[in-house]
Amino acid sequence: MKYEPVYYSEYLQLDKILNSQHLKSQEYGTEAHDETLFIIIHQTYELWFKQIIHELNSVYKIFDHERVLPNTLGTINQRLSRIVEIQRILNDQLTVIETMTPLDFMDFRDYLVPASGFQSIQFRTIELKLGLRQKFRLGVDKEFFNSRLKAHDKEHLQALENEPTLLELIDKWLARMPFAQTEDYDFWQEYQIKINQILDEDQTIIQENKTLNAKEKEFELKNLEATRANYANLFDAQKYAKLQAGGLARFSREAKLAAIFIRLFRDEPILQIPNKLLDLLIDIDEMFTTWRYRHAIMVQRMLGTKIGTGGSSGHEYLKKSTDNNRVFIDLFNLATFLLPKSHIPSLPASVRKELGFSYEV
Ligand code: HEM
Repeated sequence: MKYEPVYYSEYLQLDKILNSQHLKSQEYGTEAHDETLFIIIHQTYELWFKQIIHELNSVYKIFDHERVLPNTLGTINQRLSRIVEIQRILNDQLTVIETMTPLDFMDFRDYLVPASGFQSIQFRTIELKLGLRQKFRLGVDKEFFNSRLKAHDKEHLQALENEPTLLELIDKWLARMPFAQTEDYDFWQEYQIKINQILDEDQTIIQENKTLNAKEKEFELKNLEATRANYANLFDAQKYAKLQAGGLARFSREAKLAAIFIRLFRDEPILQIPNKLLDLLIDIDEMFTTWRYRHAIMVQRMLGTKIGTGGSSGHEYLKKSTDNNRVFIDLFNLATFLLPKSHIPSLPASVRKELGFSYEV
């Protein structure tokens, strides 16, 4: 035989995995029945985190180039889809830990201080690799979790801060996308004309609406002005830079425009895979946000308003971070800038022809 025979448990190194549940309750006194579940569920999460990082690293390798070849996008989408499926399991798994009651948890909780999910380096690695840099985190988060990490873990995360994030790689890739502007054609000019037309029509409809009283009209016109301002921000580099500085936009203006273009012309052959990629990034962000929210709710059920073993305000902190720690907010907000299909300016034949074939950016 060419290869050595393999034995199931040795190949999977089950002796290590299955002998890695050491109960603190047993060490200090009486075994708490649910501590085994508590350890195993965290270990399971960490294994899946490892797989997610493995997938993200491979996507990084493909993206971390000056050019992304079109025939690699399928692989990227396949790996990102895998992450989404793993996340689905991670979200569902919370119901298993919820079979533990707060009273059962109290049998061993005090032994765990100051350890906490705060110290999950793989979780932080995923967050960071996706795009959640320190500067985007909540204050409490930075202070607490940095002060509670061992030096080598701090160094690992600090080193990651110096690497580009997926958000930044996607940004660069989008910003390089051709099609919207050619030598003799500028899609964005046509788009702005259309938008102004639609907004002017909306304004007339509000002004001439006899069912609205003066106050209601004023209110609706104010909302319309806010919509106009949103578009103005997109087409004015200085205004857009202000949004970025205030954390309201993470993508560059060029990337945002390219993403809108992909959304508007998603049915063109060349844009179908990029469009799917944008959907997957939204899925990943949504799945993590769902996890954060469900974890926060589970924590409230388990601890009420008690502080966490890691020292944060517990449920309150987790609820805030659910809202704050989003990564691809720009992609969620793309819908703001879409037009009804009937109003999308048509593309010149030369551009349509290119969208039917392959390209490299
Ligand atoms: C009884 C079950 C659990 C309780 C009571 C609990 C409680 C908490 C609390 C209070 C925090 C905030 C930090 C702190 O002050 O400690 C936290 C953070 C965290 N927990 Fe849990 N947790 C539980 C289960 C899990 C499980 C199963 C995982 C899976 C890996 C997990 C992963 C995390 C992560 C990654 C954080 C950091 C979140 C962030 O900073 O955004 N937790 N947990």
